[in-house]
Amino acid sequence: MPFPDLRAAFAALTLSLSTMLNPVLAGDVVDTHSYANSAEVRTSHLALDFEVDFAKSRLKGLAEIQFQRLKPDADRIVLDTRALDVRSAEASVDGTVWTATKFALGSDDAVLGRPLTVMLPAAATRVRIGYFTRPEASGLQWLKPAQTAGKKQPFLFSQSQAIHARSWIPLQDSPAVRATYEARVKTPKGLRAVMSAEMSEQRDAAGRWTFRMPQPIPSYLIAIAVGDIAFHSLGTRTGVYAEPAMLKAAAWEFAETETTVALCEKLFGPYRWGRYDLLVLPPSFPYGGMENPRLTFLTPTVITGDRGLVALIAHELAHSWSGNLVTNATWEDFWLNEGFTEYLTYRLTEAQFGTARGDMERVIGVADLKTDLGLAKSDEDRKLVRAYPSKDPDEVFSTIPYQRGALFLVYLETKFGREAFDAFLRGWFDAHAFQSATSPQFLAFLDEKLLKAKPGVVSQAEIDAWVSSPTLPADAVYASSDALAKVDAAREAWLVGKTPISAMGAGNWTVQEWEHFFEGFPTTASAAQLKELDQTFKLTGNGNAIIASHWYRLAIKAGQTDSVLPAMTEYLARVGRMKLISPIYRALAATDAGRAQANAIYKKLGAGYHPIAQQALERILAGS
Ligand code: BES
Ligand code: ZN
Repeated sequence: MPFPDLRAAFAALTLSLSTMLNPVLAGDVVDTHSYANSAEVRTSHLALDFEVDFAKSRLKGLAEIQFQRLKPDADRIVLDTRALDVRSAEASVDGTVWTATKFALGSDDAVLGRPLTVMLPAAATRVRIGYFTRPEASGLQWLKPAQTAGKKQPFLFSQSQAIHARSWIPLQDSPAVRATYEARVKTPKGLRAVMSAEMSEQRDAAGRWTFRMPQPIPSYLIAIAVGDIAFHSLGTRTGVYAEPAMLKAAAWEFAETETTVALCEKLFGPYRWGRYDLLVLPPSFPYGGMENPRLTFLTPTVITGDRGLVALIAHELAHSWSGNLVTNATWEDFWLNEGFTEYLTYRLTEAQFGTARGDMERVIGVADLKTDLGLAKSDEDRKLVRAYPSKDPDEVFSTIPYQRGALFLVYLETKFGREAFDAFLRGWFDAHAFQSATSPQFLAFLDEKLLKAKPGVVSQAEIDAWVSSPTLPADAVYASSDALAKVDAAREAWLVGKTPISAMGAGNWTVQEWEHFFEGFPTTASAAQLKELDQTFKLTGNGNAIIASHWYRLAIKAGQTDSVLPAMTEYLARVGRMKLISPIYRALAATDAGRAQANAIYKKLGAGYHPIAQQALERILAGS
């Protein structure tokens, strides 16, 4: 029961005031996105117990938090929560005898949620919190059977990055805090639970699925999915989980995964997580992929039938080094996760499919970067490392930390040579394995191991420009792609009437070539040309979700929304991947009439989107 006496109420109030005024420290890292007092009391292990209730769209949870006291006389632990109904808090010395302890929820912040302060008896080594999640939990999506491939069973999945773990588990939700975890999950009959951990093939005696993650991970990598989920092995260390209806296509699409893991090890050092499995989610999954350890979560839109988008797997797999092994300590250091991962992905794609394919990905990456630099609302959002933290990490999400980060590493590689740079990278991963790191820590490591070790190659001023200038340094190193140049030439020749549409050679284009074709498409094309394009390549209603998304944007911008509206609405009702649907809503919202249409579509479909996608789309429709 909250606030059983006035003293506890006062203690909780002063504490929530002090956390408001004074961002909480984890070691010497300031994480403004967490209330946790992890510099004083730090989580070391989580033992989680869930009952999945599809009828009420909620989890019944019991979360045990084992901790170390960095400050020996600390008398409370502060956890992050968001929209949780907390029912009980208990403390224990040995994990067998539990006694009720006082707790209080602080005031609610729209982005950060509410701090949960739990008082600690002197010898306590752990607390456990009994709670329910709410149907609107931002880190969970509860799907109706109609939103799945099989149409018969409901489905649940989590998305904890960046700060959504707290909406389904009360914990110290900071990437600077790492913990091992174990979990037990009770599901309805016929449904299987999977998590980002070692999994048992069968339920335990009490009918629960059990899990164990023996390596310490940050909270944003805790993940769960429940549904009609089947498994197909791809090799000794790899496999794919999917709804039965998707399993065969998924297994074919991702058949190269086992080889890719081996290649990664050759390039970046040992894979330290045991197995690497994939989980194909229903199409409302809001991202392309999410690097949950041992179990990458994937959008089904990567299953194109031609293995054309497997670079996305390479990206999530590369996070097993950059992100999961060495983790950004705060969300301001996000580029340490994503910029590194993009760079590693280019290297991997190049080694696996040759430099032409690698260069193609790089050119597309830079085009995305330029688009997002244009869309960014402030110079602060354009920098690799912000001078002050963002309020909401989801709101400033863009390809800037990805591509600017990757370009920075490409620049360093070019300056110091591949051999020296590869040794440096491995050194970074080895020295910080299973730790979280800040941008200043990386820059100090860079200074010591490369700048000072090889003086006169790169100056501190050049590094500063990469890190804190909103514009791209003039000496950035860009790739070029013959294949994409050919696409430009083909588009141009057709548009000016020099050659017929059949001469473009688009029948053999990869998805990347199509993306490039659309990205460079001028607004001056005629209605007849768009019609010819659509008829020749059956773009309206196209089965490739990436091509379809680009086509709908183009049609909207050309003022031809009505001709694609039924197919586009069906698409927007099915697909929830933000990268594909946000630009469609944004294109619609660019005119008054379009905005009205977008609002009408969203009113109908909004409830079917993931809570994180709903937030992003509502921002677009509000014009912010
Ligand atoms: N970790 C990200 C996804 C993410 C980022 C989720 C920030 C929540 C907050 C993942 O690794 C990613 O980058 N996915 C990309 C894949 C792409 C760059 C190949 C995506 O979803 O599009
Ligand atoms: Zn990533």
